[in-house]
Amino acid sequence: MLTAVSAPPAEFTAPDYVKHEGLIAWVRRMVALCQPDAIYWCDGSEAEYDALCRQMVERGTLLRLNPAKRPNSFLARSDASDVARVEDRTFICSDDPEDAGPTNNWTDPAEMRQTLDGLFQGCMKGRTMYVVPFSMGPLGSPIAHIGIELSDSPYVAVSMRTMTRMGRAVFDVLGSDGDFVPCVHTVGMPLAEGQQDVAWPCNPNTKYIVHFPATREIWSYGSGYGGNALLGKKCFALRIASTMGRDQGWLAEHMLILGVESPEGRKHYVAAAFPSACGKTNFAMLIPPTSHRGWKVTTIGDDIAWIKPGADGRLYAINPEAGYFGVAPGTSEQSNPNAMATLKENCIFTNVALTDDGDVWWEGMTKEAPAHLIDWQGQDWTPDCGRKAAHPNARFTAPATQCPSLDRDWNEPAGVPISAFIFGGRRSHAVPLVFEARDWNAGVYMAATMGSETTAAAMGKTGETRRDPFAMVPFCGYHMGDYFRHWLQLGHAQSQRPRIFGVNWFRVDENGKFIWPGFGENMRVLEWIVRRCENQAGAVEGPLGYMPSYADLDWRGLERVTPEVYAQLTSLDQAVWEKELHEHGQLFDKLKSRLPEALEREREALGERLLGTVPA
Ligand code: GTP
Ligand code: SPV
Ligand code: MN
Repeated sequence: MLTAVSAPPAEFTAPDYVKHEGLIAWVRRMVALCQPDAIYWCDGSEAEYDALCRQMVERGTLLRLNPAKRPNSFLARSDASDVARVEDRTFICSDDPEDAGPTNNWTDPAEMRQTLDGLFQGCMKGRTMYVVPFSMGPLGSPIAHIGIELSDSPYVAVSMRTMTRMGRAVFDVLGSDGDFVPCVHTVGMPLAEGQQDVAWPCNPNTKYIVHFPATREIWSYGSGYGGNALLGKKCFALRIASTMGRDQGWLAEHMLILGVESPEGRKHYVAAAFPSACGKTNFAMLIPPTSHRGWKVTTIGDDIAWIKPGADGRLYAINPEAGYFGVAPGTSEQSNPNAMATLKENCIFTNVALTDDGDVWWEGMTKEAPAHLIDWQGQDWTPDCGRKAAHPNARFTAPATQCPSLDRDWNEPAGVPISAFIFGGRRSHAVPLVFEARDWNAGVYMAATMGSETTAAAMGKTGETRRDPFAMVPFCGYHMGDYFRHWLQLGHAQSQRPRIFGVNWFRVDENGKFIWPGFGENMRVLEWIVRRCENQAGAVEGPLGYMPSYADLDWRGLERVTPEVYAQLTSLDQAVWEKELHEHGQLFDKLKSRLPEALEREREALGERLLGTVPA
């Protein structure tokens, strides 16, 4: 049983280990506004996690998977209106609209507060408010920050335990006057007296994901899914943290962090930004092919990096998260054995399919689909039914500590030193397999103009190329032009700044099939990158920077990538690049009022090199 539920909530008493009067006063105000039936202070214990999961099983929110196949694991099926991030319902309410910039939705903070006051009035009626204390980053680390999420979703409470350092110890770090980011979340579906709840409560018509950067507050209404609802993740660790980083001289990035050790025993850390559902989890858990047996890749994080300058002129990164909220479809023993091992137990799967023996399945997990499944919407499914069994944005929630490739320093409070930044998107034609930017400014330009084909991670049409600078367009809490300037300045201020590389795993042939095998084979590219960092790998200079010639990569075991295939993977098409540079220009026009002059100059120089002229 869960204890410490105090009702009626208006006169609640906080647990005696909560010493922060400001926090208690804020909870009181939120209780008065949201009017939950009860309040529950999460302590982060295993008993609490188990009790909440049992409760959700009784209510139909979770289904317990077969313990023999998938111990202590659950399946959640969300509402069909609530399956991904909602970018058009995400707002940055800075005081000055110009500070949010043209890539964010802005609303006047006073006006938004009025809207939220109305929406949140009585929004938790019939439900329990969970008080979820969490640390992004190792508890007490100088790079970490604390948040408190108030949510009426037990799914959020248990997911936050897996995804962050959640629980009672956070209050010890917070003390009586520590800083925290207040996060309020509601599914936006109050229950009338006696009204029956649904398995996945949410508000199908009204959703608001709102950030106030000036006061570092987060308000989320109407969704129970992923980045919309687990507010430590995109809302705090990226949108709010990016504005903190701008003000305080550090970076909050949509990046994986991995360690790579050469056969000679030299170790580097690299951080890589790929847009949503473009390969971060897979790259972070890479297993080298047998040809590269002496190499070792270890995982620090798969989605978010907080990066701060060290006293030695290097940049140090931590993973603020403690779990993985990863894309299920495409994950298999072939593509990502480390993820499959991570998913053995203690997981929550959302919107995957259910097998007849009570286990999970998704597209790409096995070559042959089972003859019968229950799909993500609870319907009977057979291979010939013409529907997908799992939602394309179906996800797993798994503890980082279950990952076999977890780096031994993943919990290191000081972080790990970064040797290289890598940027890459889904580009069927324009971008070559790999190249190194000629210097910091050229690297920032490359990242700033990055494009990618859209995926199911966000609501909306998939497969359309859009500009996604630094893979941060959905996540940057301020003007992208200011963000580019911050990157330029921060890099130049470091005596040992990382090198910057571009990659593209997604070039297709004339039949639309991926040319590059990807996954473990990406080790060949990673090897070249770290050897470049040690001045030990050759390259030829081209318009984009330095590219390996065929002979500069190790092809043992992958002879089917012949010099001809390699040429296909690395060619630069004049017409494609004319269009590309034109689109860079359009992006820069949009950001003009705050665009650093240095980037405009980079575009001119690139135009000269590629086309002999600068396109309009
Ligand atoms: P978010 O969690 O949304 O930020 O995504 P992510 O960048 O971590 O993406 P993830 O690694 O989960 O990859 C998403 C999809 O890309 C999956 O369907 C993968 O199978 C596919 N993918 C990952 N790496 C590769 C690769 O090297 N080649 C190809 N062709 N596909 C890949
Ligand atoms: C992404 O969309 O980049 C994710 C998933 O990592 S979510 O947390 O839902 O934003
Ligand atoms: Mn992500």
